[in-house]
Amino acid sequence: MSHLVAKLSKSVDFIGAFDPKIRTFDIIMKTANGSSYNSYVVRGSEGVAVMDTVKKEFSDEFFLRLESVCKYEEIKYIVLHHLEPDHSGALEELMKRAPKAKLIISGRAVMMLKGIIKSDVAFETANTGKKISLGDKTIEFLSTPFLHWPDTMSSYLHEEKILFSGDVFGSHYYDERLFDDEVGDFSYAFKYYYEHIMRPFKQYVLQALNLYSRFEIKTIAPLHGPILRTNPQYYIDKYEAWSSEDKFRKSTFGKKMFSVFYMSSYDNTHKMAEVIMEGADTVEGIVASMYDLASLDEKNMIDLLEESDAVIVGSPTINGDAVKPAWDLLSCMAYLESQGKIGASFGSYGWTGEAPEMLHDRMRWLKFRLPVQPIKIKLIPTEEELNDCFAFGKEIAEITMGKMVEMEI
Ligand code: FEO
Repeated sequence: MSHLVAKLSKSVDFIGAFDPKIRTFDIIMKTANGSSYNSYVVRGSEGVAVMDTVKKEFSDEFFLRLESVCKYEEIKYIVLHHLEPDHSGALEELMKRAPKAKLIISGRAVMMLKGIIKSDVAFETANTGKKISLGDKTIEFLSTPFLHWPDTMSSYLHEEKILFSGDVFGSHYYDERLFDDEVGDFSYAFKYYYEHIMRPFKQYVLQALNLYSRFEIKTIAPLHGPILRTNPQYYIDKYEAWSSEDKFRKSTFGKKMFSVFYMSSYDNTHKMAEVIMEGADTVEGIVASMYDLASLDEKNMIDLLEESDAVIVGSPTINGDAVKPAWDLLSCMAYLESQGKIGASFGSYGWTGEAPEMLHDRMRWLKFRLPVQPIKIKLIPTEEELNDCFAFGKEIAEITMGKMVEMEI
């Protein structure tokens, strides 16, 4: 390991750890360039605050860096902006080594703390506006929940205009040169991180940006990847734009988007999809579209799902299951907010026909609103069955436009 202790300013040092070999983060994220678990020390005239720790396996590296800039007796506060194990892994050991330090967490982190440290420890909670003093240094807290867990908060070091942003503005991008003006091109990692971690919580991102705008920010110190000191406003503007871009979509024109996603083995599920779409398209205010899952990549799936007010998924049943692209589509909801979206499923089948029910169940767990039961047709749809599909699409579209019915959720 490099023993680098990078200085962010006169009184702030980086003491985090580097993980160059990690290639998958939180199971769902690809990390081609590795990552870092950033933590920092803030030194004031009356003590030191440690801002976050690291993943447990990287504790030795963290403590080596920490010991090179301060003594344990000097630590007055340990601030945990977010309790996910990649940042709280060395907390228990740090609290043993610095028993006089006061632990500061957000109010929402209290229950999580009990899950991470199995014994009782003393702590204080912080919400927006709370300040702590290190003598000549003041740290003010900001509640920025859901970015990326409900417990996340940020803080601002007044005297040096540093924003400790938690996971916000992070990148999974290992580069020991650390500062945005010195590392390689991490723009793809910055955007990928936003899309996979922050995107489901756009409204919370905008709220956080609003809080940050109260302060002049000279440096952004996130929990992963490069420290942003060249032009912090550039990164803030990116987040602002990405979190606001849906205002340019169909909803701008008062339309609701009704999307039929399907796959078909013998054209039967395809025929159903077409007629469901036609039924929906007769409803005023609806823009109905259909997409063959065989040719949609993940990025397009996420974009279309995000924009859709109604998500209708069709799959044949093969070996007692829906086809993989249908499951892949629904797994993209991990990156999105499903609350309020209408869902439904359909499919043609040869033997057993479980797929539409299975997709329906999955959508229930994903918190879609499910106003109608799945529709399934044995092999080639008859004229009458296609009429049912038309009515199915029309009914769901009317509900999407506000028609009142009882729903499962
Ligand atoms: Fe970097 Fe959500 O932890």
